[in-house]
Amino acid sequence: MLNIPSPEITPEHIYLSRRKFMSGASKIMLGAALTVACSDQTESSNSDFDSGNRQTDRDNLGDSWTSYKSITNYNNFYEFSVNKERVAVMAQDLRISPWEIEVGGMVKNPGRYHVDDLLSKFDQEERVYRLRCVEGWSMVIPWTGFPLRRLLDEVEPTMNARYVRFETLYDPVQLPGQNDGWYSWPYVEGLRLDEASHDLTILATGIYGRALLPQNGAPLRLVVPWKYGFKSIKSIVRMDLVSEQPVSLWMKAAPVEYGFYANVNPNVHHPRWSQDTERRIGELQRRKTLLFNGYAEQVDNLYTNMDLKIHF
Ligand code: MTE
Repeated sequence: MLNIPSPEITPEHIYLSRRKFMSGASKIMLGAALTVACSDQTESSNSDFDSGNRQTDRDNLGDSWTSYKSITNYNNFYEFSVNKERVAVMAQDLRISPWEIEVGGMVKNPGRYHVDDLLSKFDQEERVYRLRCVEGWSMVIPWTGFPLRRLLDEVEPTMNARYVRFETLYDPVQLPGQNDGWYSWPYVEGLRLDEASHDLTILATGIYGRALLPQNGAPLRLVVPWKYGFKSIKSIVRMDLVSEQPVSLWMKAAPVEYGFYANVNPNVHHPRWSQDTERRIGELQRRKTLLFNGYAEQVDNLYTNMDLKIHF
């Protein structure tokens, strides 16, 4: 079960990278080396790849990007380990190519997609989002990816489809945590169809313009920035359009603690800890948690007339 904040990483040094990203329009190409197709990017060659230019690389609230090092070394991925600092090493051999995703259920055009085909089919955009874990820590992550809506348009949900159900790879040999009988594997998550179709909801394929690493959910993971991080399911192999609200792994494990909606909300506390504040990785002070993780203007119309304490 998701832990109360454990010892977090030491704040990293802030230094300027030689790298700058063209805002909003980075594109990535799949291949042996994934590169950002932007005009002013200099050659990346060594392990100092870290933070981007901290003076200019900010999210829409002016917050600095979290370092690449922290994003890729402090992870929740229970299929590998419950120890955030061990996930990156344990995940490094996950076979992420070739990788197929099956999209089915209540759709007119079910299909199997190679991730490479999705990458060439849909333009990759850069989206800088805050990620707020239910445990009380957060990051600012420059993702690359494409709106999930584009894929939904392709498969055409039928009239009765109301939710999307997502599934992570099930492979207890590669994902040893799946031998842990406490959870009901594979990892499952779900969204209402209007949440899934919202422009902020993306399928991510990269971070800092580089291909997603296994520890972050390669080759394809969901990112829903106004919800707690556990909704952003990693390493997806299956998506189904369904009429009934899906039951997620966390809802099954602890229904009183983890609801279907899981919207970031400082007014609705976890039964075992407060959600008032969070610790931004790389900072010492805690900061106030914002309703819908700071995306209220974009998403509160999805929840009109809903009691968020009941639909937590
Ligand atoms: N997806 C799978 N399949 N397994 C997981 O354990 N952890 C979730 C989410 N997606 C998880 C998952 C949680 S709790 C968080 S906070 C985010 O992934 C963390 O994403 P990150 O490691 O890329 O920061």
